[in-house]
Amino acid sequence: MHADATGPTSCERTDCTVRSRPAFTINEIVHAFIIAQLQSTPAAKVEMDTWYEQSQRRSPVRAAENSKRLTLISLADAKSSDGLEEAVRQGLSRESKTLPCRYFYDEVGSEIFEQICDLPEYYLTRAEHEILRDRAPEIAGWFEGPTTVVELGSGSSTKTRVLIEAFLKRHGALKYVPLDISKTMLEESAKALLGDYPALEIFAIAAEYGRGLARIREEEQSRKLIVFLGSSIGNFRREDAASFLREVRATMRPDDRLLLGIDLRKSADVLENAYDDAAGVTARFNKNILSRINTELAGDFELDEFAHQAVVNEEVGRVEMHLVSRRSQQVRLDALDLDITFDEHESIHTENSYKYSPGEIDELAASADLRRVAQWLDTKQQFSLSLFAPECSS
Ligand code: TRP
Repeated sequence: MHADATGPTSCERTDCTVRSRPAFTINEIVHAFIIAQLQSTPAAKVEMDTWYEQSQRRSPVRAAENSKRLTLISLADAKSSDGLEEAVRQGLSRESKTLPCRYFYDEVGSEIFEQICDLPEYYLTRAEHEILRDRAPEIAGWFEGPTTVVELGSGSSTKTRVLIEAFLKRHGALKYVPLDISKTMLEESAKALLGDYPALEIFAIAAEYGRGLARIREEEQSRKLIVFLGSSIGNFRREDAASFLREVRATMRPDDRLLLGIDLRKSADVLENAYDDAAGVTARFNKNILSRINTELAGDFELDEFAHQAVVNEEVGRVEMHLVSRRSQQVRLDALDLDITFDEHESIHTENSYKYSPGEIDELAASADLRRVAQWLDTKQQFSLSLFAPECSS
C-alpha cells in the first residue's frame, strides 16, 4: 500500500469562524423535528421514522433507546423521480439520445447497485474497502476532538462501518450524518447501525446532494469529515465534478476535511469487465432506467430489444454506458404523448464513469480550492482515497 500522508495540519482564516457546540442531545433532536415542522412547506416536510413503531413491537426498550439516537429528515422534493418527464422528453428527442444517470437510483436501482458492488469484476468496492480497513484508524487520527462524519450518497453505509468504528474507538461517540436520495436505504442502514453501535447518533437526510448540502451547512456546527466514496465523483463530467466539489467546499470550515474515493485510470480490459460483468448485473442496472420509464411514464420499452454496452474511451479517460437498440423499433411513452424511433444499433448514452490520474485528482481539488493532505492507494494501485483540506492563505 502506498501512502503519502504529511500529518494533520491546521489552517485558520479570519473570515471563517469555528463555533463549537455541545454534544447532540435529545432536546436537540426534538428541536430539529419542531423546527423542521415549523418550516415545512409543500416543498419540504419531515417524516418521523417508521421503523421505530415496527421495532418497538419486537423490543420496546431497545427500540426506544435507538429511536432517541436517530433523526431522519426527508426533504419532500428529494423524490428521485423529480424532473423525470422533462429529462426523458429532452434526452430521447435529441440527435444523440441520452438519459441522465440520476434516474438509475430508484429503490430497485439502488438494490441492483448493491449487487454490482459485490461482483468479482467490480474491483472498485473491494479496493476502496481495503484502503478504508487498513487506514481508518489513521484517518480518525486526523481529528482530535468530537467529529461529525457526513457521508454523501451513503447507500447501505457498508463501507463506512470501518470508519465509524475507528471514530468510535478514538472518541467514544460519533455523530453520523448520512445523506442519500433513497429514504428506504437510509432507514434500513440507520436501523442496522444503531443496533450495532450504541454510542452512535444518526442525523439522516433524505435529499438530493444540493439541498442536503445546504441543510448541512445550516445545521452542522461541529468539526466535520465529509466522505464521498465509491468514485461517485467520477459520474460527473470533469467540469461538473469541479463545481460539485466547490459546493462541498462551501460547507467546509477551515478544520473540516473531505475524504474522496476516486477510481484511477487503468487498462481498457479491466474497465470493460468491471462495467459489463459476466452475470449481467450491470446490464440489469442500466436497463432498470427503461423499466422505470415504462412504469412511471407509461412506456412500452421492450428490455430485451436493447443491449447493455460499456465503451472505454481512453482518450478522455472514461467508461461510457450505453443501451443499444438491437433493431429498428418504435417506443411509445403514453404519459408524454411521445413516440420515439430507434435505428438498428442506435444508442442511448446513459452514464459516464470518469477515471483520474493522481495528477488529475490534485487539479480537480485545486479547482475547488482544496488541498490534498493525504492519499492512500490499494495494494494493486487501482483505486485512491484522498484527504483534502480547504486551501487557505496561511
Ligand atoms: N460510481 C459507480 C462507478 O462509476 C457507478 C456505477 C457502477 C455505474 N457501475 C455502473 C453506473 C454501471 C452505471 C452503470 O463505478
